[in-house]
Amino acid sequence: MSAETLMRSHRAGSLRTEHVGATVRLGGWIHRVRDLGGVVFIDLRDRDGLVQLSFDPKWTPREALAVAGSVGQETVVLVEGTVELRPEAARDATMSSRDVEVRVSAIRVVGPAEVPAIPVSRKEGEELPAEELRLKNRILDLRRPELQRNIMLRHRLLQRSRRTLADLDFLEIETPILTKPTPEGARDYLVPSRVHPGEFYALPQSPQIYKQLLMVAGYDRYFQIARCFRDEDLRADRQPEFTQIDIEASFVGAEDVYRVVEQVLVALWDEAGEPIVAPFPRLTWREATERFGIDKPDLRFGFEIRDLSPFVRPDAAEFLRSALAAGQRVRGILAPGMAGLSRKDLDHLTAAAKGAGAGGLIWARRSESAWEGQGTKAFGLEGLAALGGSAGDMLLAVAGADGVTSPALHAVRSDLVRRPGVQPSTPHAFCWVVDFPLFEHDAESGQFVPAHHPFTAPHPEDVEFLERDPGRCRALHYDAVYNGNELGSGSIRITDPAVQRTIFRLLGIAPDEIRRRFGFLLDGLAAGAPPHGGFALGFDRITMLLAGATSLRDVIAFPKTTAARALFEGAPTPVNAADLRALHLRVED
Ligand code: AMO
Repeated sequence: MSAETLMRSHRAGSLRTEHVGATVRLGGWIHRVRDLGGVVFIDLRDRDGLVQLSFDPKWTPREALAVAGSVGQETVVLVEGTVELRPEAARDATMSSRDVEVRVSAIRVVGPAEVPAIPVSRKEGEELPAEELRLKNRILDLRRPELQRNIMLRHRLLQRSRRTLADLDFLEIETPILTKPTPEGARDYLVPSRVHPGEFYALPQSPQIYKQLLMVAGYDRYFQIARCFRDEDLRADRQPEFTQIDIEASFVGAEDVYRVVEQVLVALWDEAGEPIVAPFPRLTWREATERFGIDKPDLRFGFEIRDLSPFVRPDAAEFLRSALAAGQRVRGILAPGMAGLSRKDLDHLTAAAKGAGAGGLIWARRSESAWEGQGTKAFGLEGLAALGGSAGDMLLAVAGADGVTSPALHAVRSDLVRRPGVQPSTPHAFCWVVDFPLFEHDAESGQFVPAHHPFTAPHPEDVEFLERDPGRCRALHYDAVYNGNELGSGSIRITDPAVQRTIFRLLGIAPDEIRRRFGFLLDGLAAGAPPHGGFALGFDRITMLLAGATSLRDVIAFPKTTAARALFEGAPTPVNAADLRALHLRVED
């Protein structure tokens, strides 16, 4: 669609050689001014990019020259002029409309700007201001071409998800924001009710229960670009409010859900110009943690984890023998080409393993002729030979319970894959991780907690363990993983109210509390529930990865800090006593 309005004929950054000779009217921000003593060049910026405006006493009216000579950065102007071809030598590779310039005949300031607190235009190689300062001055930061590109990519990905799902016959249905708590493992944001003293709404952690109830209500295939709210301890890749592409469908098994999600992901990567192929390979949760130490493996790289227990010598160090005697294992990575790691590198890897809970890291390196290092005592030369390594390899091993060795070796592997010279085998490695455990044991409370959420159906082969040995029960739960990132997760749901009650009971929720919190779901399931399942993709994370950004904050227009603060608008804020009274609230120290 044309960007033409009553005030402008084109966007500045959209001008090309085909416009040469045309008279144009532009509106935009002053990006940079170069005053060569008489002749003035201004880069004018809008969301399409930059174009050079030229002012020359030879042809520019005096009033226009005066404005050009005095206008400050980030001022908004309207200009009129003719498009000219720039001389070959003057063409600027960083401009989107680099082959042309606009000879200005009139310029008018319509939005004066104070001196910007942070620069929008940067010289080549100039560092960005500190992030806190940028978040405080978010409007200026959002003018940065990099952020504009990210936000525009986000828009395209949103449109493409909508189109893809609508074409697959999914209905876009909105669910409430003022709602009842839906457990997804975080704390709820609560909203006090003014008209019902002492009562609160919760902001949804996800539309989970509503989308299931929509299936019960017969809507068959639902999606929503859903805003979710979670009051959790924040990490770099989390935001307290974030967006999911949320999907649910009836009369489906996991295979049907995989197919839909794969089609969405293929479309999104295509929108970003990255062709990928589906179906994605699958790994069980057990296999993923066994081979990669984590449930979201980065399959672009090798360095797989192996069980080294059978190779430990009977006269190995006491800590190794006692680990094995206690039923624990010695696991490790035989890293090809890593024999050159220095003492310092090994200290670094040891620190990574220890940081993830291991007691230490055993290593052995294979030179041209022989193995050397402390690992030779642990495994003996025969053991090392039996491992099948070759010259140039490095063995890195850890002893302990799987709950220790897995994260420790994942940390080691993550460090190895970042080393210079290590090349990914492919740019895009997607996989499904399936058959997650249904419960996790929470050491603090001694309780079972849902590994995902409590609406996930138990694996049909494991239902017998549900009461007897809940920790052993697998779930019909699956995650989509990309280059070591969890893109989203989903499951086939419980549709039998009796099974749903059993799960709540196993989670230690008292019957009256089950009724109070989940009565509406149980009533729904009792009203004739079709088999159903679904998925939610983390849309911010996908956009971040496709934009090549390293922080979710770079793909969200107005994000929160890791301390859950909105620095630009200043939220959260204290509320005055009268407002609190109206909400029947009192703040205590
Ligand atoms: P889950 O809680 O796994 O599943 O969330 C799905 C995906 O949402 C993204 N995500 C986040 N992104 C940014 N900031 C956060 N704080 C955050 N939390 C989660 C992740 C995650 O994989 N209702 C279920 C889905 C279902 O079963 O259908 C759910 O919400 O990428």
